Amino acid sequence: MNTNELRQKFLQFFESKGHQIVSSSSLVPHDDPTLLFTNAGMNQFKDVFLGFDKRDYNRATTAQKCVRAGGKHNDLENVGYTARHHTFFEMLGNFSFGDYFKQQAIHFAWEFLTSPEWLNLPKEKLLATVYAEDDEAYNIWHNEIGLPAEKIIRIGDNKGGRYASDNFWQMGDTGPCGPCTEIFYDHGEHIWGGVPGSAEEDGDRYIEIWNNVFMQFNRDEQGNMHPLPKPSVDTGMGLERMAAVLQHVHSNYEIDLFKNLLKAVARETHTPFSMDVPSLKVIADHIRSCSFLIADGVLPSNEGRGYVLRRIIRRAVRHGYKLGQKQPFFYKLVPDLVQEMGDAYPELREKQTQIMDALRGEETRFGETLEKGMGLLENTLSGSLKRLDGEIIFKLYDTYGFPYDLTADICRERDIEMDEDGFNREMEAQRARARAAQNFKANVQLHYDGAETQFTGYTEREGQATVLAIFKDNESVNELRDGENGIIVLDKTPFYAESGGQVGDVGNLIANNVQFEVKDTQKIKASVFGHIGTLVSGSLKVGDTITAQVNNAIREQITKNHSVTHLMHQALREVLGNHVEQKGSLQNADLTRFDISHNQAMTAEQIIEVERKVNFAIMQNVPVKVETMSLEDAQKTGAMMLFGEKYGEFVRVVMMDEFSTELCGGTHVARTGEIGLFKIISESGIAAGVRRVEAITGMKAVEFVQNQEVLLKNIYAEVKAQGEKDVLSKIQANAKTLKDLEKSLQAAKTELAVHAGAKLLDKAQDLGTARLVVAQIDADAGALRDIVGDLTGKGDNIVVLLASANDDKVALCAGVSKPLTQKVKAGDLVKFVAEQVGGKGGGRPDLAQAGGSDVAKLAGALASVEGWVKSLI
Ligand code: ALA
Repeated sequence: MNTNELRQKFLQFFESKGHQIVSSSSLVPHDDPTLLFTNAGMNQFKDVFLGFDKRDYNRATTAQKCVRAGGKHNDLENVGYTARHHTFFEMLGNFSFGDYFKQQAIHFAWEFLTSPEWLNLPKEKLLATVYAEDDEAYNIWHNEIGLPAEKIIRIGDNKGGRYASDNFWQMGDTGPCGPCTEIFYDHGEHIWGGVPGSAEEDGDRYIEIWNNVFMQFNRDEQGNMHPLPKPSVDTGMGLERMAAVLQHVHSNYEIDLFKNLLKAVARETHTPFSMDVPSLKVIADHIRSCSFLIADGVLPSNEGRGYVLRRIIRRAVRHGYKLGQKQPFFYKLVPDLVQEMGDAYPELREKQTQIMDALRGEETRFGETLEKGMGLLENTLSGSLKRLDGEIIFKLYDTYGFPYDLTADICRERDIEMDEDGFNREMEAQRARARAAQNFKANVQLHYDGAETQFTGYTEREGQATVLAIFKDNESVNELRDGENGIIVLDKTPFYAESGGQVGDVGNLIANNVQFEVKDTQKIKASVFGHIGTLVSGSLKVGDTITAQVNNAIREQITKNHSVTHLMHQALREVLGNHVEQKGSLQNADLTRFDISHNQAMTAEQIIEVERKVNFAIMQNVPVKVETMSLEDAQKTGAMMLFGEKYGEFVRVVMMDEFSTELCGGTHVARTGEIGLFKIISESGIAAGVRRVEAITGMKAVEFVQNQEVLLKNIYAEVKAQGEKDVLSKIQANAKTLKDLEKSLQAAKTELAVHAGAKLLDKAQDLGTARLVVAQIDADAGALRDIVGDLTGKGDNIVVLLASANDDKVALCAGVSKPLTQKVKAGDLVKFVAEQVGGKGGGRPDLAQAGGSDVAKLAGALASVEGWVKSLI
């Protein structure tokens, strides 16, 4: 039975038992920030188990795509070295939401596995484990199914803590969990390994094929277990493992699907096909996880999910390198994968080109440093080294892009330990350097234990306030005097303190004869705002009352730029795709700068389309509504949230009708129309897979467009065009004329040089059987060649070596009259000279060219030619 048939059969069986077939969810669990990737069939039902969500079915069955790399369930290191671990795999599952429980779950599993109508596995090959305290499950196996006692193994808390057990399953550090019973298949004595719980359990003889989890608790962040509203069932059967059993092979890599992939890997790496080469297996495994992740919108990057993807791709590329494949090859496996899995997962076929582009891009980037990094590693590892220094691991990481686990993979192959602590120390030192390099914001540690600042600036721009504290030179003081710089803390303020990309407000704090100019506002700690600036007149004391006035014009411009960022974010996702995620942002009075995950330059058409969409939303002049609500309610609005960002229990949701809904603490316009004109002014790459878009709004955008027009008019005048109709053709005609002129100039120069060169023969040295011309002249490499060819044709015993030089480059050309090439070879001559000026060269016996870089050594090298020629004739 092939994998496609097995997948179908499983779903059919459970459908016949009243289960609803539900499609696989995305590998990126968008609504669950606690989870890196979908790692089990139950993920999409998490809220149903917890009682937060209801479906119109209480039994479901799925074939779920899963990735176990980089998160709580991480199998990356084992891939390629065991018969059964994968970064990507498919989990077939049946689920009960408060419907059936232990008894029926076990009976279903047993029926599907052993009934002749379904998989018909020999019962004697199966055994089960149960959670040590779970007598109920034990008794079902023993009394109802009839498994003998020696085939039911109790496993307790064997992982160092209460409920930390192979037979207690939990999705992550928090969430639904419960005891489980697992079914194992015995692949036979000829394979090494022992029963679960024994010292040899990690071998490949007894393989877990099915896990029935009895969901009973919700684990919170403190580790407390809260009973679920209704006991439920969550199961998982590994598709690849089960296919191996049914196809009578013991390794997953020998099943139909993997065999074909392995052949493709062998083809692309020019390696003979074999089941015994771990690198082939690693690559065959990795092409699945990488392609599926990209299809679900993940792109290689330096953080979060993108970094896990990058690590997997680079690991695959390194294994290709190990097999001798130094050119990009990994992306070429995508069509083979589509062939195997495209019917079951159409997204692979739809996104084939994007997947290949993303992989090729990442391979090319890493290819640039891989060889050098490997060189460093080989040098370090030569000899009898037993432990790789943290500094080297860090250098490989930082300079050559080797993720930690990639280096670990290489060390493991050679039995070398990794100095993980040393590496972590280097990483921490780098972070500290980065922090120190940031400006004042992170540097200043002000000591302040007073009251918090109340922020009034969502609605007000001006208001009375009391001075709570003053800092001068980072020390708390009672008074600030005329001309002094300081930081003022107020009990309440309309000044926005920089956060979420929006810069801090500027303005003034005013009292009688007192003016403190606020140049920036920063949080000196959560909810305490520091007004940073200079006292331009009077003196200011703690306890004084002042009027805080935000600079309105600047704030308005910042606000426009912030509101438009939300519209732009949404438009970018619509135009470029849902993989677009915010990677950084800045809104000041001049512009909005927005960094996104996207691994290609935006085309001119895409930029225009984004501008069109945003300007359209502006012109609808929709109201901007802001509401504070619970995180849960916010999730229901479909608001854009950032993965990895910590949100509090209550969040502020900013809504612009159908054009954008986003969580945000910033200030916003009241209606989109206030933004005025929106214009993108630049788009560029700032890191692998990250693009930066800069845009402007309001009068700044109007000025920009006007300036462009002035510039255009100047161009029309300069090229004597009437206007936009003929400006391009005029410029093209000018460019063509220029090119033609350059060509004729070059031809004239060469002719001149050849003429001048002919005269060189008059000054030739007579060496008896040969005449030698050595000279440095002013001509390019092409002209040198023409002159040399011309000179050697003027007699049958001529040897010529001509050179030209500019600041840092030497061009050389040697020629020998044909009859003399028996004795003197131009190739040898040019090589002899080139080596002296730091270059290489060679060529035909009668004509040869070379280059060099050491201009200072040229004169000496030319002087050495005579002796060299003499020694040959
Ligand atoms: N959620 C269970 C597992 O992944 C079935 O093993």
